Amino acid sequence: MGEHTFLSGDSTWWRQAVIYQIYPRSFSDANGDGIGDLRGIINKLDYLKGLHIDGVWLSPFYPSELADGGYDVADYRNVDPRIGTLEEFDEMVEKFHAAGIRIFIDIVPNHSSDQHVWFQEALKSPKGSAARARYLFFDGLGENGELPPSDLNSHFGPNGWTRITEPDGTPGQWYMHLFAKEQPDFNWDNQEVRDDFLYTLRFWSDRGVDGFRIDVAHALAKDLSGKMPGYREWGPESIALDGSDPIFDRNEVHEIYKTWRKVFNEYDPPRVAVAESGAPAARRPLYASAEELGQAFNFDLMSANWNRKDYKKIIARNLKASKSDGSSSTWVLSNHDTIRHTARYGLPKDTNWDAWYVGGFKPAVNYQKGFARARGAIMLMLALPGSTYIYQGEELGLPEVLDIPLDQIQDPSFLRNPGKGRSRDGCRVPLPWSLTGSSFGFGSGGAHLPQPADWGSYSVEAQDHTTWSFLNLYREALWRRRQLQTSEDLKWVKSSKKLLHFARPNGWHSVTNFSDKPVKLPKGEVLQTSAPLVNGKLGAYSTAWLFIHP
Ligand code: GLC
Ligand code: CA
Repeated sequence: MGEHTFLSGDSTWWRQAVIYQIYPRSFSDANGDGIGDLRGIINKLDYLKGLHIDGVWLSPFYPSELADGGYDVADYRNVDPRIGTLEEFDEMVEKFHAAGIRIFIDIVPNHSSDQHVWFQEALKSPKGSAARARYLFFDGLGENGELPPSDLNSHFGPNGWTRITEPDGTPGQWYMHLFAKEQPDFNWDNQEVRDDFLYTLRFWSDRGVDGFRIDVAHALAKDLSGKMPGYREWGPESIALDGSDPIFDRNEVHEIYKTWRKVFNEYDPPRVAVAESGAPAARRPLYASAEELGQAFNFDLMSANWNRKDYKKIIARNLKASKSDGSSSTWVLSNHDTIRHTARYGLPKDTNWDAWYVGGFKPAVNYQKGFARARGAIMLMLALPGSTYIYQGEELGLPEVLDIPLDQIQDPSFLRNPGKGRSRDGCRVPLPWSLTGSSFGFGSGGAHLPQPADWGSYSVEAQDHTTWSFLNLYREALWRRRQLQTSEDLKWVKSSKKLLHFARPNGWHSVTNFSDKPVKLPKGEVLQTSAPLVNGKLGAYSTAWLFIHP
């Protein structure tokens, strides 16, 4: 099958695809202004091709004031001039497609930026106007409306409501924002909002975009007709299982995605989508069904301890779930919202790495452990049926940058939660491409987040021709997976308690040693290991792929 046939004809390509997440501002800066750009991405096409990935997913590149790293979108159908132009976007799609690489983009439908023309219009328009009705404006409580409609909190700070100044200069209504105050939530009961997103999906699909990653997919529909929702915890445990929560995972949100699916299916092959949904796992199959988005992220491995039992449980549960909804599972170890897994795996078991990682951890991260486990984990994950999402820089084994000076932190989850927030900037530090030079090859004009002094030792240049480098481990494993990933079945193989061993029907076996001592391998032809064997045994935290005749 030639690459072009593959790109046009096959409508199941996504089921076992490997998607590489690009955080555009931190990937590669072609014009030297310190911010990564589309030209930088185009320039790295050969690098991406050499990774043997099936697609890239670009985090938001839209015009934005960057209150939340671009997840505050001011214009859904344009490119931030600091990142590029629509013409460059088209050039990227064309060149990537010619190289057999698909393009996913991020759609952020729960909220816009406060700089979006609609929100600006709402501010200038009177209470009760059609312009206000596109967002969630309410009168405040108290004698003069000086109190917020409820004590609702936001993900990025104590207040989920912000008061505006009316056009005549008097203090006015309040609007809801589940994230930063620069991210007003849309009113999804509003037909114009619904139509506008369908228009956006078509706009990008017409430009050749193959898939969409849907941000905070479970939050769109809200029922604020009863008692106004107040302070709450955010985890899936806090969400009702019957679609009756006033804010999250309402049954109506699923009706919205059914209309999106109709748009996706207007294209050949149908456009695909993956939900970033914080809904309870039991409701994930709804998002992942063929009538809705088609796939949903499963972040279970991203938060799992390095533990054989947990891994096995998570894998079995998710494979079963994706069988039930006809989708395929997704696997993720890292993304732009969490601590890099090289660091996570180097922390003592059950460290609350999610709560606080500015200024480091005590005890400090044990990277020797972290790197070895990260290498074992990627090979384990790539041997699973389903699709895999890789976050830029994990193929270089980048550590989490824990010492960004406080006055250079950009992340609102830190800035808006004084003393409590974690910063996601440590996984968003611009990539090192070269051993030395300005921002280690990221660009000629420095980097928008400070890179550590030893960043060059992780660079592509440092690893390119080094046997056993992270980069070459990823390249080789991804290349091999492409040959081996044929069916979607998996069978567990009985093994010692230290190993997690499974087999695919074509004789491809994956064996991971979760213990800290070398363990004897089962008999078979060794195809690849995540670390050199130790006297013929599988080293601590390592994975081996074997061929054993089925
Ligand atoms: C998602 C994004 C995150 C962003 C948030 C609000 O969780 O991954 O980066 O801050 O949505 O849009
Ligand atoms: Ca730039």
